[in-house]
Amino acid sequence: MFKVGIITASDKGYGGEREDLSGKKIMDLLPKDKYAVIDYKLLPDEEELLSNEMINMSDELGCDLVLTTGGTGFSKRDITPEATLKIATRNASGIAEAIRMYSIQITKRAMLSRGVSVIRNNTLIINLPGSVKAVEESLTYILDTLFHGLEILLGQTTECGRQ
Ligand code: MTE
Repeated sequence: MFKVGIITASDKGYGGEREDLSGKKIMDLLPKDKYAVIDYKLLPDEEELLSNEMINMSDELGCDLVLTTGGTGFSKRDITPEATLKIATRNASGIAEAIRMYSIQITKRAMLSRGVSVIRNNTLIINLPGSVKAVEESLTYILDTLFHGLEILLGQTTECGRQ
């Protein structure tokens, strides 16, 4: 079982103006036999708060995977990618590239997500866009490959049979 932390970045959600359906959607999409969600935080779009929570989930809670949703766009308050890059130890850009490559076939607006994917020590951190629809499309697309990536990151397999 991989340990997962979920962070929703949303001023409106944090302020109680909007229910966080995107964080819930992530929980619903993760297969229960493979992933255990051990922490979930709803935070405002504040770089420091987001970075600190990613550090907490990685360093203190030992999450193997941290999925964020929201704050990846162009509005002035959107800061999730910067908060993520700040605490990364290695790049893992292929996942964010794959999300945009797939999503752009659904909506050209996918090019407006600045989401990144990185590694912090033993934790893979992936930014998903904020809408429920975007979460569903993005996460569903990467899910099976994500599992293999985590196995490699955590040294559970060295076998990378061609698929
Ligand atoms: N990706 C997918 N798969 N589906 C979508 O509907 N919406 C886009 C984009 N990525 C979308 C998507 C839109 S409209 C925006 S503005 C950006 O994600 C950024 O969203 P965020 O600021 O909520 O993170």
